[in-house]
Amino acid sequence: MKAVTTATLKKWKQEGVKFASLTAYDASFAATFERAGIPVMLVGDSLGMVLQGNRDTLPVTVEQIAYHTRCVRAGADKALIIADMPFMSYATKEQAFESAAALMQAGAQMVKLEGGDWLLDTVKGLTERGIPVCAHLGLTPQSVHQFGGFKVQGRDSAQAQAILEQAQALEAAGASLLVLECVPSQLARHITEHLSIPTIGIGAGPDTDAQILVMHDVLGITSGYIPKFSKNYIELTGGIESAAAKFVEEVQEGQFPGPEHQFN
Ligand code: KIV
Ligand code: NA
Repeated sequence: MKAVTTATLKKWKQEGVKFASLTAYDASFAATFERAGIPVMLVGDSLGMVLQGNRDTLPVTVEQIAYHTRCVRAGADKALIIADMPFMSYATKEQAFESAAALMQAGAQMVKLEGGDWLLDTVKGLTERGIPVCAHLGLTPQSVHQFGGFKVQGRDSAQAQAILEQAQALEAAGASLLVLECVPSQLARHITEHLSIPTIGIGAGPDTDAQILVMHDVLGITSGYIPKFSKNYIELTGGIESAAAKFVEEVQEGQFPGPEHQFN
């Protein structure tokens, strides 16, 4: 694998190249996923749930994401590493700059923030200072208590229109990537067609530019709850590297996600 950069992502969007992404939290998994051909890894605040056992992502701190980013960076040589900005670590622009600096210095090449309109100034400020931003719309888990649960977003047309407009505004503010989580497939396709930056879907159907899953779901490590949008690849292949490679292959060939993994 050649080193993956923001320029690579731009080129892939232009050429219609689909890519697969996984979360990673340590060096050994990061190295294994890189060997399997995963070009983009996310040090997600999902670690608050899958590593720490919390019920949501709210307890995660910048220091914890920075620690895991260092671990992933040590294992991944070429993959682009995105680090999640934790809950309330970007409530103000100044906080965002400080949090993003810590994560970039830990080895991230991009930071991810959840939200739309209220973040535009922050996204602009970060990108002006040389920090690439991945935006995140739809089901943004840091707002789970505001939503009243982990629920599909953008089902009615007013909400769908609002998400599209926020996506376009985030791109205009300088975002390099956009995660769309748990939105109807039709909406994700529509947004993807209207942006020049790549979209990465999770529970967003087959027509986003990329797909991302939480590594524990792909590897069948669950605490009981299995999200509809995920797929257990270890069941298919029996090995960790081969599971990740199969995920890469199925995303590139448009076989994942299937109808059973989508919301309509
Ligand atoms: O924290 C995470 O793992 C994420 C992905 C599911 C997109 O934000
Ligand atoms: Na996250």
